Amino acid sequence: MSQSVLQDGKIFIGKSTKPEYLELRFANRHGLITGATGTGKTVTLQVLAEGFSAAGVPVFAADIKGDLSGLAAVGEPKDFLVKRAAEVGLGDDWKQRAYPTIFWDVFGKEGHPIRATVLDMGPLLLSRMLELNEVQEGVLNIAFRVAADEKIPVLDLKDLRAIIANVAERSKELIQKYGNVATTSVGAIQRRLLVLEEQGADQFFGEPSLDIKDFMRTAPDGRGVISVLAADKLMEKPRLYTTFLLWMLTKLWQTLPEAGDLPKPKLVFFFDEAHLLFNEAPKALLERIEQIARLIRSKGVGVYFITQNPMDVPNSVSAQLGNRVQHALRAFTPQEQKAVKVAAETFRKNPDLDTERVIMELKVGEALVSTLENKGEPSMVQRTLIRPPEGRVGPVSEDERLSVIEYSPVYGKYEETIDRESAHEIITKRTNTATEEAGSTGGGWGDIIFGGGGGSNAPAGSKPKGRPSQGMGEMIGKDLQRSISRTIATTIKNIIVKSITGRSR
Ligand SMILES: Nc1ncnc2c1ncn2[C@@H]1O[C@H](COP(=O)(O)OP(=O)(O)OP(=O)(O)O)[C@@H](O)[C@H]1O
Ligand SMILES: [Mg+2]
Repeated sequence: MSQSVLQDGKIFIGKSTKPEYLELRFANRHGLITGATGTGKTVTLQVLAEGFSAAGVPVFAADIKGDLSGLAAVGEPKDFLVKRAAEVGLGDDWKQRAYPTIFWDVFGKEGHPIRATVLDMGPLLLSRMLELNEVQEGVLNIAFRVAADEKIPVLDLKDLRAIIANVAERSKELIQKYGNVATTSVGAIQRRLLVLEEQGADQFFGEPSLDIKDFMRTAPDGRGVISVLAADKLMEKPRLYTTFLLWMLTKLWQTLPEAGDLPKPKLVFFFDEAHLLFNEAPKALLERIEQIARLIRSKGVGVYFITQNPMDVPNSVSAQLGNRVQHALRAFTPQEQKAVKVAAETFRKNPDLDTERVIMELKVGEALVSTLENKGEPSMVQRTLIRPPEGRVGPVSEDERLSVIEYSPVYGKYEETIDRESAHEIITKRTNTATEEAGSTGGGWGDIIFGGGGGSNAPAGSKPKGRPSQGMGEMIGKDLQRSISRTIATTIKNIIVKSITGRSR
Protein backbone atom coordinates (compact mmCIF):
# COMPACT_ATOMS: atom_id res chain seq x y z
CA MET A 1 0.00 0.00 0.00
CA SER A 2 1.37 3.41 -0.84
CA GLN A 3 1.56 6.17 1.72
CA SER A 4 1.05 9.90 1.66
CA VAL A 5 2.08 12.38 4.34
CA LEU A 6 -1.40 12.50 5.73
CA GLN A 7 -4.09 9.85 6.05
CA ASP A 8 -7.44 10.08 7.79
CA GLY A 9 -6.36 12.55 10.43
CA LYS A 10 -2.99 10.88 10.94
CA ILE A 11 0.53 11.90 10.06
CA PHE A 12 2.54 9.14 8.44
CA ILE A 13 5.85 8.93 10.33
CA GLY A 14 7.42 5.82 8.88
CA LYS A 15 7.26 2.05 8.74
CA SER A 16 7.89 -0.71 11.23
CA THR A 17 6.20 -4.04 10.55
CA LYS A 18 3.30 -1.75 9.67
CA PRO A 19 2.87 1.96 8.89
CA GLU A 20 3.32 4.18 11.96
CA TYR A 21 1.28 7.30 12.51
CA LEU A 22 0.84 10.25 14.79
CA GLU A 23 -2.85 10.88 15.33
CA LEU A 24 -3.75 14.55 15.02
CA ARG A 25 -6.45 14.32 17.68
CA PHE A 26 -3.77 13.34 20.21
CA ALA A 27 -1.09 15.68 18.93
CA ASN A 28 -1.81 18.17 21.74
CA ARG A 29 -0.74 15.51 24.22
CA HIS A 30 2.79 16.62 23.55
CA GLY A 31 5.82 14.64 22.53
CA LEU A 32 9.51 13.95 22.83
CA ILE A 33 12.18 13.33 20.21
CA THR A 34 15.45 12.03 21.59
CA GLY A 35 18.69 10.52 20.31
CA ALA A 36 22.44 11.02 20.15
CA THR A 37 23.96 13.51 17.70
CA GLY A 38 23.52 12.69 14.05
CA THR A 39 20.90 10.01 14.60
CA GLY A 40 18.07 11.77 12.77
CA LYS A 41 16.27 14.01 15.27
CA THR A 42 16.10 17.08 13.04
CA VAL A 43 14.85 15.09 10.07
CA THR A 44 12.15 13.53 12.28
CA LEU A 45 11.20 17.02 13.44
CA GLN A 46 10.98 18.10 9.80
CA VAL A 47 8.80 15.11 8.93
CA LEU A 48 6.40 15.94 11.76
CA ALA A 49 6.40 19.66 10.97
CA GLU A 50 5.58 18.93 7.34
CA GLY A 51 2.85 16.54 8.42
CA PHE A 52 1.23 19.14 10.66
CA SER A 53 1.50 21.79 8.00
CA ALA A 54 -0.11 19.47 5.44
CA ALA A 55 -2.95 18.97 7.91
CA GLY A 56 -3.46 22.74 8.11
CA VAL A 57 -1.81 23.04 11.53
CA PRO A 58 0.62 25.95 11.98
CA VAL A 59 3.97 25.04 13.48
CA PHE A 60 6.64 26.89 15.40
CA ALA A 61 10.14 25.42 15.56
CA ALA A 62 13.52 26.62 16.69
CA ASP A 63 16.24 25.94 14.13
CA ILE A 64 19.44 25.35 16.02
CA LYS A 65 21.84 24.55 13.21
CA GLY A 66 20.09 26.17 10.28
CA ASP A 67 19.35 22.78 8.72
CA LEU A 68 15.63 22.86 9.45
CA SER A 69 15.30 25.89 7.16
CA GLY A 70 15.39 23.45 4.22
CA LEU A 71 11.70 22.81 4.59
CA ALA A 72 11.12 26.14 2.86
CA ALA A 73 12.75 24.72 -0.28
CA VAL A 74 11.79 21.93 -2.66
CA GLY A 75 13.60 18.73 -1.68
CA GLU A 76 16.03 16.99 -3.99
CA PRO A 77 15.52 13.31 -4.78
CA LYS A 78 18.93 12.23 -3.56
CA ASP A 79 19.72 8.51 -3.65
CA PHE A 80 19.53 7.87 0.09
CA LEU A 81 16.20 9.66 0.28
CA VAL A 82 14.74 7.83 -2.72
CA LYS A 83 15.88 4.56 -1.19
CA ARG A 84 14.28 5.40 2.14
CA ALA A 85 11.07 6.46 0.40
CA ALA A 86 10.85 3.05 -1.23
CA GLU A 87 11.68 1.23 2.02
CA VAL A 88 8.83 2.86 3.90
CA GLY A 89 6.40 2.26 1.05
CA LEU A 90 6.20 5.76 -0.37
CA GLY A 91 7.33 4.77 -3.86
CA ASP A 92 6.18 7.13 -6.56
CA ASP A 93 3.90 8.95 -4.15
CA TRP A 94 6.84 10.65 -2.55
CA LYS A 95 6.75 14.17 -3.92
CA GLN A 96 9.20 16.94 -3.32
CA ARG A 97 7.73 20.25 -2.35
CA ALA A 98 8.53 23.34 -0.34
CA TYR A 99 6.50 24.20 2.74
CA PRO A 100 5.04 27.63 3.57
CA THR A 101 7.56 29.12 5.95
CA ILE A 102 8.10 32.34 7.87
CA PHE A 103 11.62 32.93 9.11
CA TRP A 104 12.04 34.70 12.44
CA ASP A 105 15.15 35.94 14.18
CA VAL A 106 15.44 37.63 17.55
CA PHE A 107 18.35 39.62 16.12
CA GLY A 108 16.41 40.52 12.98
CA LYS A 109 19.03 39.21 10.54
CA GLU A 110 17.99 35.76 9.40
CA GLY A 111 14.30 36.51 9.61
CA HIS A 112 11.68 38.93 10.82
CA PRO A 113 12.51 40.37 14.22
CA ILE A 114 10.61 39.01 17.20
CA ARG A 115 10.12 41.46 20.03
CA ALA A 116 8.49 41.45 23.41
CA THR A 117 8.08 44.25 25.90
CA VAL A 118 9.78 43.96 29.27
CA LEU A 119 6.35 43.97 30.88
CA ASP A 120 5.32 41.11 28.65
CA MET A 121 8.31 39.08 29.71
CA GLY A 122 7.51 39.54 33.40
CA PRO A 123 9.81 39.41 36.43
CA LEU A 124 10.10 35.60 36.71
CA LEU A 125 11.44 35.02 33.21
CA LEU A 126 13.46 38.20 33.24
CA SER A 127 15.16 37.19 36.48
CA ARG A 128 16.07 33.91 34.88
CA MET A 129 17.37 35.69 31.82
CA LEU A 130 19.46 38.01 33.97
CA GLU A 131 20.53 35.16 36.24
CA LEU A 132 19.47 37.07 39.34
CA ASN A 133 19.54 35.70 42.85
CA GLU A 134 16.51 35.78 45.12
CA VAL A 135 17.19 39.19 46.66
CA GLN A 136 17.80 40.74 43.26
CA GLU A 137 14.66 39.11 41.94
CA GLY A 138 12.80 40.72 44.84
CA VAL A 139 14.00 44.14 43.73
CA LEU A 140 12.95 43.44 40.18
CA ASN A 141 9.53 42.43 41.45
CA ILE A 142 9.21 45.73 43.30
CA ALA A 143 10.16 47.64 40.16
CA PHE A 144 7.45 45.80 38.22
CA ARG A 145 4.85 46.45 40.91
CA VAL A 146 5.70 50.15 41.17
CA ALA A 147 5.50 50.45 37.39
CA ALA A 148 2.12 48.72 37.40
CA ASP A 149 0.75 50.82 40.27
CA GLU A 150 1.93 54.06 38.71
CA LYS A 151 0.85 52.96 35.24
CA ILE A 152 4.28 53.42 33.72
CA PRO A 153 4.81 51.31 30.62
CA VAL A 154 8.11 49.42 30.79
CA LEU A 155 8.80 48.40 27.23
CA ASP A 156 12.49 48.19 26.51
CA LEU A 157 15.70 47.82 28.49
CA LYS A 158 16.10 51.59 28.66
CA ASP A 159 12.78 51.72 30.46
CA LEU A 160 13.74 48.93 32.78
CA ARG A 161 16.95 50.74 33.70
CA ALA A 162 14.99 53.91 34.35
CA ILE A 163 12.40 52.29 36.58
CA ILE A 164 14.99 50.38 38.56
CA ALA A 165 17.06 53.52 39.10
CA ASN A 166 13.91 55.37 40.07
CA VAL A 167 12.87 52.73 42.56
CA ALA A 168 16.34 52.78 44.07
CA GLU A 169 16.25 56.55 44.44
CA ARG A 170 12.87 56.35 46.13
CA SER A 171 13.69 53.36 48.30
CA LYS A 172 12.93 55.18 51.57
CA GLU A 173 9.52 56.17 50.35
CA LEU A 174 8.71 52.75 48.93
CA ILE A 175 9.90 50.55 51.75
CA GLN A 176 6.61 50.67 53.67
CA LYS A 177 4.47 49.56 50.80
CA TYR A 178 6.79 47.34 48.79
CA GLY A 179 9.68 46.27 50.98
CA ASN A 180 13.35 46.97 50.92
CA VAL A 181 15.23 47.89 47.76
CA ALA A 182 18.84 47.06 48.52
CA THR A 183 21.21 49.31 46.64
CA THR A 184 23.78 46.56 46.17
CA SER A 185 21.12 44.52 44.40
CA VAL A 186 20.22 47.46 42.22
CA GLY A 187 23.83 47.79 41.16
CA ALA A 188 24.01 44.08 40.39
CA ILE A 189 20.84 44.18 38.30
CA GLN A 190 22.10 47.17 36.34
CA ARG A 191 25.31 45.30 35.60
CA ARG A 192 23.40 42.23 34.47
CA LEU A 193 21.31 44.41 32.22
CA LEU A 194 24.50 45.67 30.65
CA VAL A 195 25.57 42.09 29.93
CA LEU A 196 22.18 41.36 28.41
CA GLU A 197 22.50 44.43 26.20
CA GLU A 198 25.92 43.34 25.09
CA GLN A 199 24.44 40.00 24.09
CA GLY A 200 22.18 41.90 21.74
CA ALA A 201 19.02 41.44 23.77
CA ASP A 202 18.23 45.14 23.59
CA GLN A 203 16.94 44.42 20.09
CA PHE A 204 14.53 41.91 21.46
CA PHE A 205 12.85 44.17 24.00
CA GLY A 206 10.53 46.79 22.64
CA GLU A 207 7.75 47.37 20.15
CA PRO A 208 6.12 46.36 17.88
CA SER A 209 5.88 43.24 19.97
CA LEU A 210 5.00 39.93 18.44
CA ASP A 211 1.39 39.39 17.49
CA ILE A 212 0.86 35.75 18.37
CA LYS A 213 -1.64 35.47 15.53
CA ASP A 214 1.30 35.61 13.15
CA PHE A 215 2.30 32.19 14.46
CA MET A 216 -1.13 30.82 13.70
CA ARG A 217 -1.33 31.45 9.98
CA THR A 218 -2.36 29.17 7.21
CA ALA A 219 -1.17 29.55 3.62
CA PRO A 220 -3.64 30.15 0.75
CA ASP A 221 -3.46 26.44 -0.13
CA GLY A 222 -4.68 25.56 3.38
CA ARG A 223 -1.39 24.28 4.74
CA GLY A 224 -0.25 25.50 8.14
CA VAL A 225 2.56 28.04 8.03
CA ILE A 226 5.77 26.82 9.65
CA SER A 227 7.50 29.51 11.69
CA VAL A 228 11.20 28.79 11.83
CA LEU A 229 13.21 30.67 14.43
CA ALA A 230 16.88 31.11 13.57
CA ALA A 231 18.42 29.96 16.81
CA ASP A 232 22.08 29.40 15.95
CA LYS A 233 23.25 32.71 17.43
CA LEU A 234 20.60 32.67 20.11
CA MET A 235 21.79 29.26 21.27
CA GLU A 236 25.13 30.74 22.26
CA LYS A 237 23.19 32.40 25.07
CA PRO A 238 21.29 29.44 26.49
CA ARG A 239 19.48 31.50 29.12
CA LEU A 240 18.30 33.95 26.53
CA TYR A 241 17.23 31.15 24.22
CA THR A 242 15.27 29.16 26.78
CA THR A 243 13.58 32.07 28.51
CA PHE A 244 12.62 33.41 25.15
CA LEU A 245 10.92 30.19 24.07
CA LEU A 246 9.32 29.86 27.46
CA TRP A 247 7.97 33.36 27.12
CA MET A 248 6.39 32.37 23.81
CA LEU A 249 4.70 29.38 25.41
CA THR A 250 3.50 31.55 28.27
CA LYS A 251 2.12 34.05 25.83
CA LEU A 252 0.29 31.36 23.86
CA TRP A 253 -1.11 29.97 27.05
CA GLN A 254 -2.29 33.39 28.19
CA THR A 255 -3.68 34.45 24.83
CA LEU A 256 -5.48 31.42 23.48
CA PRO A 257 -8.97 30.49 24.63
CA GLU A 258 -9.82 27.09 26.12
CA ALA A 259 -10.45 24.68 23.30
CA GLY A 260 -10.89 21.25 24.87
CA ASP A 261 -10.14 18.24 22.70
CA LEU A 262 -9.98 19.13 19.03
CA PRO A 263 -9.71 16.92 15.94
CA LYS A 264 -6.34 18.55 15.35
CA PRO A 265 -4.19 21.02 17.31
CA LYS A 266 -4.26 24.76 16.72
CA LEU A 267 -0.51 25.03 16.85
CA VAL A 268 2.42 22.75 17.43
CA PHE A 269 5.56 24.01 19.09
CA PHE A 270 8.95 22.29 18.78
CA PHE A 271 11.46 23.09 21.49
CA ASP A 272 14.93 21.93 20.39
CA GLU A 273 17.93 21.54 22.73
CA ALA A 274 15.37 21.31 25.49
CA HIS A 275 17.88 20.15 28.09
CA LEU A 276 19.03 23.78 28.32
CA LEU A 277 15.62 24.68 29.62
CA PHE A 278 15.85 22.34 32.56
CA ASN A 279 19.54 22.78 33.40
CA GLU A 280 19.82 24.40 36.80
CA ALA A 281 16.32 25.74 36.46
CA PRO A 282 15.10 27.11 39.80
CA LYS A 283 12.03 25.50 41.34
CA ALA A 284 9.69 28.33 40.45
CA LEU A 285 10.65 28.05 36.81
CA LEU A 286 10.28 24.26 36.71
CA GLU A 287 6.84 24.65 38.21
CA ARG A 288 5.99 27.16 35.57
CA ILE A 289 7.12 24.79 32.80
CA GLU A 290 5.11 21.90 34.23
CA GLN A 291 2.08 24.08 34.61
CA ILE A 292 2.28 25.44 31.09
CA ALA A 293 2.75 21.98 29.62
CA ARG A 294 -0.31 20.78 31.52
CA LEU A 295 -2.57 23.71 30.73
CA ILE A 296 -1.59 24.57 27.19
CA ARG A 297 -2.90 21.21 26.04
CA SER A 298 -6.49 22.30 26.51
CA LYS A 299 -5.75 25.39 24.45
CA GLY A 300 -5.04 23.09 21.53
CA VAL A 301 -1.26 23.55 21.55
CA GLY A 302 1.08 20.56 21.34
CA VAL A 303 4.64 20.95 22.62
CA TYR A 304 7.40 18.66 21.40
CA PHE A 305 10.74 18.65 23.16
CA ILE A 306 13.86 17.60 21.31
CA THR A 307 16.90 16.61 23.29
CA GLN A 308 19.68 14.05 23.17
CA ASN A 309 18.90 12.18 26.32
CA PRO A 310 15.42 11.42 27.63
CA MET A 311 16.77 11.83 31.15
CA ASP A 312 17.29 15.52 30.41
CA VAL A 313 13.58 16.07 30.93
CA PRO A 314 12.33 16.06 34.52
CA ASN A 315 9.80 13.32 35.33
CA SER A 316 6.94 15.71 35.99
CA VAL A 317 7.26 17.09 32.46
CA SER A 318 8.25 13.80 30.83
CA ALA A 319 5.10 12.14 32.14
CA GLN A 320 3.08 14.58 30.05
CA LEU A 321 4.79 13.75 26.76
CA GLY A 322 2.58 11.18 25.08
CA ASN A 323 4.07 10.81 21.60
CA ARG A 324 7.63 9.53 21.55
CA VAL A 325 10.37 9.02 19.02
CA GLN A 326 13.59 7.58 20.38
CA HIS A 327 16.57 7.52 18.03
CA ALA A 328 19.79 5.67 18.81
CA LEU A 329 21.63 6.23 22.06
CA ARG A 330 25.21 5.32 22.77
CA ALA A 331 25.95 3.33 25.88
CA PHE A 332 29.63 3.36 26.71
CA THR A 333 29.66 4.87 30.18
CA PRO A 334 27.55 3.63 33.12
CA GLN A 335 25.66 6.91 32.95
CA GLU A 336 24.81 6.29 29.30
CA GLN A 337 23.80 2.70 30.04
CA LYS A 338 21.44 3.97 32.68
CA ALA A 339 19.94 6.42 30.20
CA VAL A 340 19.31 3.59 27.73
CA LYS A 341 17.58 1.56 30.41
CA VAL A 342 15.42 4.49 31.46
CA ALA A 343 14.57 5.28 27.84
CA ALA A 344 13.61 1.65 27.20
CA GLU A 345 11.40 1.50 30.26
CA THR A 346 9.33 4.53 29.29
CA PHE A 347 7.81 2.62 26.38
CA ARG A 348 4.85 0.29 26.39
CA LYS A 349 6.48 -3.08 25.95
CA ASN A 350 6.45 -4.98 22.70
CA PRO A 351 6.98 -8.71 23.32
CA ASP A 352 8.79 -9.02 19.99
CA LEU A 353 11.36 -6.32 20.79
CA ASP A 354 14.25 -6.15 23.20
CA THR A 355 13.84 -2.39 23.54
CA GLU A 356 17.03 -1.81 25.47
CA ARG A 357 19.18 -3.57 22.91
CA VAL A 358 17.37 -2.04 19.94
CA ILE A 359 18.02 1.52 21.19
CA MET A 360 21.73 0.89 20.77
CA GLU A 361 21.35 -0.77 17.38
CA LEU A 362 19.15 1.77 15.65
CA LYS A 363 20.51 3.12 12.39
CA VAL A 364 20.43 6.77 11.35
CA GLY A 365 16.87 7.82 10.61
CA GLU A 366 15.51 4.82 12.45
CA ALA A 367 13.75 5.08 15.80
CA LEU A 368 11.60 3.48 18.44
CA VAL A 369 8.19 5.02 18.03
CA SER A 370 5.17 5.02 20.29
CA THR A 371 2.25 7.40 19.84
CA LEU A 372 -1.13 7.77 21.50
CA GLU A 373 -3.97 5.73 20.01
CA ASN A 374 -7.55 4.54 20.61
CA LYS A 375 -8.65 6.26 23.81
CA GLY A 376 -5.33 7.98 24.28
CA GLU A 377 -3.14 5.13 25.45
CA PRO A 378 0.42 4.71 24.14
CA SER A 379 0.82 2.31 21.27
CA MET A 380 3.14 -0.65 21.60
CA VAL A 381 6.66 0.47 20.83
CA GLN A 382 7.84 -0.28 17.29
CA ARG A 383 11.19 -0.19 15.58
CA THR A 384 10.47 2.28 12.80
CA LEU A 385 12.21 3.54 9.70
CA ILE A 386 11.39 7.25 9.54
CA ARG A 387 10.06 8.48 6.21
CA PRO A 388 12.05 11.06 4.21
CA PRO A 389 10.75 14.65 4.20
CA GLU A 390 9.33 16.42 1.15
CA GLY A 391 11.25 19.64 1.67
CA ARG A 392 15.00 19.81 1.43
CA VAL A 393 17.16 17.96 3.93
CA GLY A 394 19.75 20.62 4.78
CA PRO A 395 19.76 24.42 4.94
CA VAL A 396 18.42 26.99 2.47
CA SER A 397 20.95 29.28 0.81
CA GLU A 398 21.21 32.90 1.86
CA ASP A 399 19.43 34.02 -1.32
CA GLU A 400 16.63 31.56 -0.78
CA ARG A 401 16.22 32.77 2.77
CA LEU A 402 16.08 36.39 1.66
CA SER A 403 13.43 35.71 -0.91
CA VAL A 404 11.32 33.79 1.64
CA ILE A 405 11.62 36.79 3.95
CA GLU A 406 10.69 39.28 1.25
CA TYR A 407 7.63 37.36 0.14
CA SER A 408 6.46 36.65 3.65
CA PRO A 409 2.96 37.82 4.67
CA VAL A 410 4.44 39.69 7.65
CA TYR A 411 7.11 41.50 5.68
CA GLY A 412 7.32 45.13 6.87
CA LYS A 413 5.25 44.58 9.98
CA TYR A 414 8.08 44.15 12.46
CA GLU A 415 11.12 45.51 10.69
CA GLU A 416 11.09 49.00 12.23
CA THR A 417 11.15 49.57 15.98
CA ILE A 418 8.68 52.00 17.52
CA ASP A 419 9.84 54.00 20.53
CA ARG A 420 6.76 55.47 22.13
CA GLU A 421 6.65 57.33 25.41
CA SER A 422 7.39 54.89 28.18
CA ALA A 423 9.16 54.62 31.53
CA HIS A 424 12.42 56.16 30.35
CA GLU A 425 10.76 59.26 28.92
CA ILE A 426 8.15 59.54 31.67
CA ILE A 427 10.66 59.33 34.49
CA THR A 428 13.03 61.74 32.79
CA LYS A 429 10.16 64.15 32.19
CA ARG A 430 9.00 63.87 35.79
CA THR A 431 12.47 64.62 37.00
CA ASN A 432 12.81 67.57 34.64
CA THR A 433 9.47 69.01 35.71
CA ALA A 434 10.45 68.70 39.32
CA THR A 435 13.76 70.36 38.55
CA GLU A 436 12.11 73.30 36.83
CA GLU A 437 9.56 73.79 39.55
CA ALA A 438 12.10 73.58 42.26
CA GLY A 439 14.31 75.93 40.27
CA SER A 440 11.60 78.54 39.74
CA THR A 441 10.47 78.48 43.33
CA GLY A 442 13.96 78.42 44.70
CA GLY A 443 14.22 80.91 47.58
CA GLY A 444 10.55 81.86 47.08
CA TRP A 445 7.24 80.38 48.23
CA GLY A 446 8.50 76.90 47.88
CA ASP A 447 11.24 77.51 50.37
CA ILE A 448 8.91 79.07 52.81
CA ILE A 449 6.29 76.35 52.57
CA PHE A 450 8.53 73.31 52.21
CA GLY A 451 11.54 74.61 54.04
CA GLY A 452 13.82 74.50 51.05
CA GLY A 453 12.49 71.09 50.09
CA GLY A 454 10.32 70.82 47.07
CA GLY A 455 6.80 70.63 45.75
CA SER A 456 4.40 67.79 46.37
CA ASN A 457 5.03 66.48 42.91
CA ALA A 458 8.74 66.24 43.43
CA PRO A 459 9.84 62.68 43.15
CA ALA A 460 9.85 61.30 46.61
CA GLY A 461 12.98 59.63 47.73
CA SER A 462 15.18 62.60 46.95
CA LYS A 463 14.51 63.58 50.53
CA PRO A 464 15.76 67.01 51.38
CA LYS A 465 15.30 66.60 55.09
CA GLY A 466 18.20 67.65 57.21
CA ARG A 467 20.12 69.01 54.29
CA PRO A 468 18.65 72.49 53.86
CA SER A 469 21.76 73.82 52.20
CA GLN A 470 21.11 71.71 49.15
CA GLY A 471 18.02 72.75 47.21
CA MET A 472 15.77 70.27 45.53
CA GLY A 473 16.65 71.53 42.08
CA GLU A 474 20.30 71.12 42.74
CA MET A 475 19.87 67.62 44.08
CA ILE A 476 17.75 66.40 41.23
CA GLY A 477 20.04 68.14 38.82
CA LYS A 478 22.91 66.13 40.22
CA ASP A 479 20.92 62.93 40.09
CA LEU A 480 19.98 63.58 36.54
CA GLN A 481 23.54 64.35 35.65
CA ARG A 482 24.67 61.14 37.28
CA SER A 483 22.14 59.10 35.39
CA ILE A 484 22.94 60.86 32.14
CA SER A 485 26.65 60.27 32.53
CA ARG A 486 25.84 56.67 33.38
CA THR A 487 23.90 56.32 30.17
CA ILE A 488 26.68 57.92 28.19
CA ALA A 489 29.22 55.68 29.88
CA THR A 490 27.11 52.65 29.00
CA THR A 491 26.80 53.71 25.40
CA ILE A 492 30.51 54.32 25.14
CA LYS A 493 31.21 50.98 26.76
CA ASN A 494 28.91 49.28 24.28
CA ILE A 495 30.68 50.89 21.38
CA ILE A 496 34.05 49.85 22.75
CA VAL A 497 32.94 46.29 23.38
CA LYS A 498 31.49 46.06 19.91
CA SER A 499 34.63 47.42 18.31
CA ILE A 500 36.77 44.94 20.25
CA THR A 501 34.67 41.87 19.67
CA GLY A 502 33.68 42.95 16.17
CA ARG A 503 30.14 42.03 17.02
CA SER A 504 27.49 44.02 15.30
CA ARG A 505 24.63 42.19 16.92
N1 LIG B 1 14.36 9.77 7.88
C1 LIG B 1 15.50 9.90 7.23
N2 LIG B 1 15.59 9.51 5.95
C2 LIG B 1 16.74 9.64 5.29
N3 LIG B 1 17.87 10.13 5.81
C3 LIG B 1 17.86 10.51 7.08
C4 LIG B 1 16.67 10.42 7.86
N4 LIG B 1 16.95 10.89 9.08
C5 LIG B 1 18.24 11.27 9.06
N5 LIG B 1 18.81 11.04 7.88
C6 LIG B 1 20.21 11.35 7.49
O1 LIG B 1 20.98 11.55 8.67
C7 LIG B 1 21.53 12.87 8.70
C8 LIG B 1 21.55 13.39 10.12
O2 LIG B 1 20.24 13.52 10.60
P1 LIG B 1 19.81 14.74 11.56
O3 LIG B 1 20.43 15.99 11.12
O4 LIG B 1 18.34 14.70 11.64
O5 LIG B 1 20.47 14.26 12.94
P2 LIG B 1 20.32 14.96 14.38
O6 LIG B 1 19.98 13.89 15.33
O7 LIG B 1 19.43 16.12 14.28
O8 LIG B 1 21.81 15.43 14.64
P3 LIG B 1 22.30 16.61 15.61
O9 LIG B 1 22.10 16.13 17.00
O10 LIG B 1 23.73 16.70 15.25
O11 LIG B 1 21.51 17.81 15.28
C9 LIG B 1 20.64 13.65 7.76
O12 LIG B 1 21.32 14.75 7.21
C10 LIG B 1 20.29 12.63 6.72
O13 LIG B 1 21.34 12.51 5.79
MG1 LIG C 1 19.72 18.16 14.62
